[in-house]
Amino acid sequence: MTQHRWTAVDDYFTTLLTPHDEALDAALRESDAAGLPQIAVAPNQGKLLQLLAEIQGARRILEIGTLGGYSTIWLGRALPDDGYLLTLEASAAHAEVARANLARAGLPQAEVRTGPALDTLAKLVAEGAEPFDLVFIDADKPNNPHYLERALQLTRPGSLIVGDNVVREGEIIDADSTDPKIQGVRSFLELIATHPRLTGTALQTVGSKGYDGFSLARVTS
Ligand code: SAH
Ligand code: DHB
Ligand code: MG
Repeated sequence: MTQHRWTAVDDYFTTLLTPHDEALDAALRESDAAGLPQIAVAPNQGKLLQLLAEIQGARRILEIGTLGGYSTIWLGRALPDDGYLLTLEASAAHAEVARANLARAGLPQAEVRTGPALDTLAKLVAEGAEPFDLVFIDADKPNNPHYLERALQLTRPGSLIVGDNVVREGEIIDADSTDPKIQGVRSFLELIATHPRLTGTALQTVGSKGYDGFSLARVTS
């Protein structure tokens, strides 16, 4: 099976299962127009995030890595009116695009905080922020283990931590990789596997975004 076939099946699923949504289309259009990289989650992956948040009954969501806010909108759609979504983005330019996209999507519950996520996360911990019900980790992969440690300080038993891009065309199995992204994701997965407060798994995906995957981890205590 090849990329061509994977994309065709994603197109079929997307047309069939993800309703047309002007705000989501506009978010991608505006992200492209602003020159952002085309690395947002695919529509059916966005819907998976929304469903996970709904299943989770999430009222507070934390996202690390906003880009143009495409995945943010999917997650935000799962929130009740009095819910809250905080998304962290290092690039002021990306954050500006995302804020406009979130406003267009009618998501006043979503806040974009600009700056290196590790700094913002440290501040949130220091301030004693309320626990988040779902955390989506999708920023700079070398920092994934640090993001996971912070996520553990900002969640509660039962919270769900989702990680994007854990397969990277299969490169993830190369223990000797010199790519800091690969090493970051490998350490992240090892932490999920061994941490006494986590139980998790990882899944491979193919589709319009190529060959990659997600990790899921539930906070147990
Ligand atoms: N979640 C988005 C895609 C995020 S792409 C979606 O699916 O729609 C990764 C984003 O992380 C980029 O916008 C990049 O600027 C941001 N990023 C990279 N390093 C970061 C850091 N140290 N802190 C916060 N954001 C960072
Ligand atoms: C990259 C990052 C992502 O979050 C993604 O979903 C795909 C690619 C990247 O940095 O190449
Ligand atoms: Mg990603």
